Amino acid sequence: MSFKDKIIKEKLPNHLAIIMDGNGRWAKMRGEHRIIGHQNGVEAVKQTVEGAAELGISYLTLYAFSTENWNRPKDEVMGLMSLLVEAIENETPTLMKNNVRLQAIGDLGSLPEEVRAKLNGTISTTASNSGLTLVLALSYSSRWEIVNAVKNIAGEIAKGELSPDQISNAVFENHLTTKGIPDPELLIRTSGENRISNFLLWQIAYSELYFTELFWPDFTKEELYKALLNYQNRERRFGKTSEQLNDN
Ligand code: IPE
Ligand code: IPE
Ligand code: MG
Repeated sequence: MSFKDKIIKEKLPNHLAIIMDGNGRWAKMRGEHRIIGHQNGVEAVKQTVEGAAELGISYLTLYAFSTENWNRPKDEVMGLMSLLVEAIENETPTLMKNNVRLQAIGDLGSLPEEVRAKLNGTISTTASNSGLTLVLALSYSSRWEIVNAVKNIAGEIAKGELSPDQISNAVFENHLTTKGIPDPELLIRTSGENRISNFLLWQIAYSELYFTELFWPDFTKEELYKALLNYQNRERRFGKTSEQLNDN
């Protein structure tokens, strides 16, 4: 019996976010170059997107490249950018077939022109798809996003379009690159690292966290189901007591 059969459809997260980590170590273990790990990570992305779409999850956000990742060796950064262009190009027909809509968050202006063009092309091609929304976090970091939001809010105040007492959670969220995307209920990180690495700091305030030792290229649909089942067995209290939740 697959873990899939045990999943309760009504208790799925609406938004699942994943820190896809461990490509480099996966390659190193095999005596290969880090980029081979990234190449093999693409298969795990395909499996995960397909798995999430089949289950009927609404949003899947994948941390693909962080602001800090620009500091990696130049050949690795270039390799990752080429891989991105290739994957977007090759996978667009599958996204269309599976009714998946592509979006992106992060400092997209800092991406190479070719990546931005391919990305924007697929974002518009898939814009009216109504199934899963796949959000790629590219050149993303939460501190960048939060500072950027503060700058934009300050600009609106300076122009007299907004007053400081109008600032609320909702106003703040509308200035993040995740505007319009609900907060993730579940965040998965692979590779055994138990940290957040500057990902969605505001948005994961009440997310359930799931860490697995598996390196990203070894992540499969079955592992996705396992994480979802683990999530379904948790009690999300949001500051209340267990009794309060069970009385209602
Ligand atoms: C995740 O794998 C992919 C990116 C961060 C782009 P890593 O490249 O971080 O792999 P490890 O953590 O070094 O094994
Ligand atoms: C986080 O992984 C970024 C992505 C998965 C894109 P890193 O490998 O860059 O994070 P650290 O350096 O281990 O914290
Ligand atoms: Mg890593």
